[in-house]
Amino acid sequence: MDTLKPLDKLRVRRQKALQGGGEKRITEQHEKGKLTARERIALLVDPDSFEEFDLFMRHQCHNFGMENTVYDGDGVVTGSATINGRVVYIFAQDFTVFGGSLSKTYAEKICKIMDMALKNGCPLIGLNDSGGARIQEGVDALAGYAEIFWRNVMSSGVIPQISAILGPCAGGAVYSPAITDFVVMEKHNSYMFVTGPKVVKTVLNETVTTADLGGAKIHTTKSGVAHFLTNSEEETMLLIKKLLSYLPSNNMEDPPVYPSPDPVTRACPELNEVIPENPNKPYDILDVIYPIMDDAEFLQVMGNFAQNIVVGFGRINGHSIGVVANQPKVLAGVLDIDASIKAARFVRFCDAFNIPLVVLEDVPGFLPGTSQEYNGIIRNGAKLLYAFAEATVPKITVIIRKAYGGAYCVMNSRHMMADIVYAWPTAEIAVMGPKGAVEVIFRKEAKESDDPKQILQDRENEYREEFSNPYRAAERGYVDDIIEPSMTRFRLVRALEMLANKQDSIPPRKHGNIPL
Ligand code: HXC
Repeated sequence: MDTLKPLDKLRVRRQKALQGGGEKRITEQHEKGKLTARERIALLVDPDSFEEFDLFMRHQCHNFGMENTVYDGDGVVTGSATINGRVVYIFAQDFTVFGGSLSKTYAEKICKIMDMALKNGCPLIGLNDSGGARIQEGVDALAGYAEIFWRNVMSSGVIPQISAILGPCAGGAVYSPAITDFVVMEKHNSYMFVTGPKVVKTVLNETVTTADLGGAKIHTTKSGVAHFLTNSEEETMLLIKKLLSYLPSNNMEDPPVYPSPDPVTRACPELNEVIPENPNKPYDILDVIYPIMDDAEFLQVMGNFAQNIVVGFGRINGHSIGVVANQPKVLAGVLDIDASIKAARFVRFCDAFNIPLVVLEDVPGFLPGTSQEYNGIIRNGAKLLYAFAEATVPKITVIIRKAYGGAYCVMNSRHMMADIVYAWPTAEIAVMGPKGAVEVIFRKEAKESDDPKQILQDRENEYREEFSNPYRAAERGYVDDIIEPSMTRFRLVRALEMLANKQDSIPPRKHGNIPL
C-alpha cells in the first residue's frame, strides 16, 4: 500500500473502511436478517446526502492483543445527511466490527456528532446494534457511555432525539436511548435490557427468553420503554421519516408546515353520530381523531401501551399538533399510572418543541384500587397535571363526553390555563358520575324512605338533568362554547389560528420539581 500514489492510497483505504468488519461479517449480519450500518443510513436519508465523519478513526486499545485487530471507523458510522431536505445528524452502530461494541474512540465519534447536532440545532438519530461496552477497554468504554448520556441530557428539549433499536442494546447502553425522545424497536432482531437472561437466571433463578425479557413487544406493551414497534428495518426508517415530518429541527423553530388539499371548512357529519346514546357505552376515540385531521392522517405514539389514552401527531390546516385523547374503548378511558406517565411525557415533548396541544376529553376519573394506590397513582397522576400546567404552547380542550372529578381538572381544564375549551352537547362535567354521586349524597334519605331504590333512581335522574351536560360549565365561562361535533375540525382550525402567536412563560427558576 505504501507504494501507492496518495490518491490511490486514499481510495484503497476508504474502500476497505467502507467494508466495516469485512465480507464474512457482512454476510453473517445479512443472515441474521439485519442490514449493515451503511445500508441502514442509505435507507434513511436522501440519496447521496450522507457526509461521513471520522471514517479513519481507530481504537487506541493495547490490551488483550487488540493492537493487532484494528478497523478504520472502529465500529460506528457517524455523520450528517438530509431527510426530506432537512439536515440531521446520525450515528449507526456497526455490528460487523467487534459486535458494534463501544470503545473510547467510538464514543468520541458519537459525541462529536452529538455536539454538532446540538450546536447546529438539528435532530439526532441513533441506529443501535451493539454488544455494549467493549470489554477489552474497561473503564474507558464506561467513560464513553457516560459522555454520551451527558450529551443526551443536554440535548433534551433542545433538539429531537430519536433512537432505533435494530439489534442488541444491553447493560448501561440502554440509558442513551432511554433519554431520547422516541425509541423505535424492530420486531425481529431488537432487544433491550439492563441485565440479560443469563444474569436473571443466576441471580433470581428465573428462566426467561431474550424476547420475553426485552424484545420489542415487551417494551411497546408492558414497560413503555419503546414508542413504536416496526416489522422490518425498512419500516423503521419510513417511520422515522414520518415522525420527523411533524417535528421542528430544534426548540427555537416551529414545526414544518405541509399545506393539505383537505379543506379547512370540511364538516365531519359522522361526528354528530359517534357518541352512543347510553353514556356508559364505549366508542373508539380514533373515530373522532381521524376525521378531524388533515387527510385523516394520525401518527399514534405508544399505540400499544396504556391504550386507555391515545397520544400522537397529526396536522390541522397543515400545522403539526399533538393530540391527547382519552380512549373510552379501553378501561372506559380511565386515567391510571401508565396512561398518566405516557401522556405527561408526550405533553412535555410537544411543549418543548412548539407543537400545540389538542385534548379530546372523555374521562370517568382515576382508576381506583390498591394496585394503583400502592404504585403511586397520586404522584404519577400528578405528572400529567404538572405537564399540562407548565406547558405554554397553545392548549385547546374539547370535552366530548365525561369530564369527571380530578380527571376534569387534570385533562387541560380551563383552570389549568387551557387557552380554549369547547364542549360537545354530549359533555357531562361533574364531580362524579350520576350513580356514584346520588349514592353518596342521598344514601341517608334513601335508607329512611319506604322505597330506597325509587328514591335513588329519582335523584339520579335529577342529577343527570342538572349536571350531566355542558351548560353549567358554559354558564360560568369554564367552557368557551358548546359546538356541533361535525364542526370540530373547523373550530380547531380557527382556534389554532387565534393562538398562533401565543406568548406565554412560566416563572424563572432553575427547573421545577415534577413528581418523578
Ligand atoms: C468486545 C464484543 C462484545 C463486547 C460482542 N463482541 N460483544 N467484543 N466487547 N461487548 C464481539 C464478539 O466477541 C464477537 O467477536 C463479535 O463481537 C460478534 O459477537 P457474537 O457473540 O459472535 O455475536 P452474537 O452471537 O450475535 O451475540 C451478540 C451478543 C454477544 C449477544 C451481543 O456478543 C454478547 O453477549 N456480547 C457481550 C455483551 C456484554 O456482556 N456486553 C457488556 C455489557 S455491559 P469474534 O471475533 O469472536 O467473532 C455494558 C456496560 C455499559 O455494556 C455500561 C454503560 C454505563
